[in-house]
Amino acid sequence: MESNLNPKEQRIAILHIPGEEPIELPILSGTEGKDVIDIKNLSAKGYFTYDPGLLATASCQSKITFINGEKGILLHRGYPIAELAMQTSYLELCYLLLYKELPNQAQLSEFKNKISHNTMVHEQIPKLFQAFRRDAHPMAIMCGIAGALSAFYHEQINVSNPKDRELVAIRLLAKIPTLAAMAYKYSEGQPFMYPQNNLSYAGNFLHMMFATPCEPYVVNPILEKAMDRIFILHADHEQNASTSSVRFAGSTGANPYACIAAGIAALWGPAHGGANEACLRMLKTIGSVERIPEFIARAKDKNDPFRLMGFGHRVYKNYDPRATVMKETCHEVLKELNIQDHKLLDVAMELEKIALQDPYFIERKLYPNVDFYSGITLSAIGIPPQMFTVIFAVARTIGWITHWCEMQQDPSSKIVRPRQLYTGVPTRHVVPMYRR
Ligand code: SDX
Repeated sequence: MESNLNPKEQRIAILHIPGEEPIELPILSGTEGKDVIDIKNLSAKGYFTYDPGLLATASCQSKITFINGEKGILLHRGYPIAELAMQTSYLELCYLLLYKELPNQAQLSEFKNKISHNTMVHEQIPKLFQAFRRDAHPMAIMCGIAGALSAFYHEQINVSNPKDRELVAIRLLAKIPTLAAMAYKYSEGQPFMYPQNNLSYAGNFLHMMFATPCEPYVVNPILEKAMDRIFILHADHEQNASTSSVRFAGSTGANPYACIAAGIAALWGPAHGGANEACLRMLKTIGSVERIPEFIARAKDKNDPFRLMGFGHRVYKNYDPRATVMKETCHEVLKELNIQDHKLLDVAMELEKIALQDPYFIERKLYPNVDFYSGITLSAIGIPPQMFTVIFAVARTIGWITHWCEMQQDPSSKIVRPRQLYTGVPTRHVVPMYRR
């Protein structure tokens, strides 16, 4: 993998440790963002670095997505997210992420054709759903079913073959909406709906979610556009926890479908992709504008585990640019669906207003993130809360598999194996049972 890191111009950081020779560490620069101090040879000098949560650690080089957290900037292959959200479709963005350039019409048509002809899943897969309780959380089902895909394609994959990697990406992009809709239908006790190749990516998803064999289902263009935009806003986000989980699993050479299952598992957590479901439940619990101060106080109380879901971000210390577009989309959908009285939106907007004026949130640079308004929008589309993170997983699959592909091509990539600061008991010896 060629890099933009120019060793000739790189600067050197000097680490001075009392009583020891200074340690020279190269400073490397990318094309955007903070420079990095290359510490890979530090362990040979007798030291590890310590960075719980990897807040200050660049785990890899990447050309896919860039975030400037201080300025609230998100670029996919150099394009700002707001431009992509308002001027392209999700499949155009998928093409951009995978092939590094936006497609022309012919390229997009060929790409859509490849996707459409991979949307069905093996007829054995529906049988797997029978093993789950009907009330299983759909993310639990998605973890299991996505991992099960590895059983259907294991022998055919040579991760070092670009064509094999591309087929994995196409299959996942095509099948994940089908599996997601099946998880929903299973929980509803309704029959699975087959994909419809004549529909758009978002339209086909809505059809598989809400159509029944009993009557024709017409895709509402407003909901189709909103769904496509939601997919765009959640497509990729640098080395977030779920993408890093996919990279960690992929670094061992594991089956890529199993790696995606690792990403789905990580995304499920309420601190990550589960925040959209948690945020909507939080807004429902708050219930009215009058109760907002009570919950703001709880969010600030160190003795109370309650946090404002949909607020704060590890990287953004400014407004999440996706939240800006999500908020506009939310208003558009509610207006176009003629949903006037939306109490939860009133609560959300007032909560945002109060929080952004509160010193606690200002000092900690806590702003709404992509999950703050997505739940209200998804509800308006008719998606139930337990499916919100599944929608996030559908959208993020392209990001996960693009990072997996990038890692497979990176010559500097090796099995991820962090070290630790051991604070346990020093060496000791077993005492025979009769003396314990
Ligand atoms: C996503 O990484 C990504 O890119 C993720 C994502 C993606 O697209 O992949 O953007 C998607 O996961 C968005 C985030 C969704 N999660 C939530 O909305 C859950 C609520 N947010 C928090 O849990 C929290 O803000 C995190 C997990 C998002 C970030 O946590 P950090 O970076 O570890 O920050 P922290 O917990 O150290 O918080 C710093 C301070 C703390 O206070 P002090 O100890 O300094 O006094 O801010 C406080 C925290 O208590 N704080 C909050 C808060 N978030 C942080 N206080 C109240 N409510 C919150 N939401």
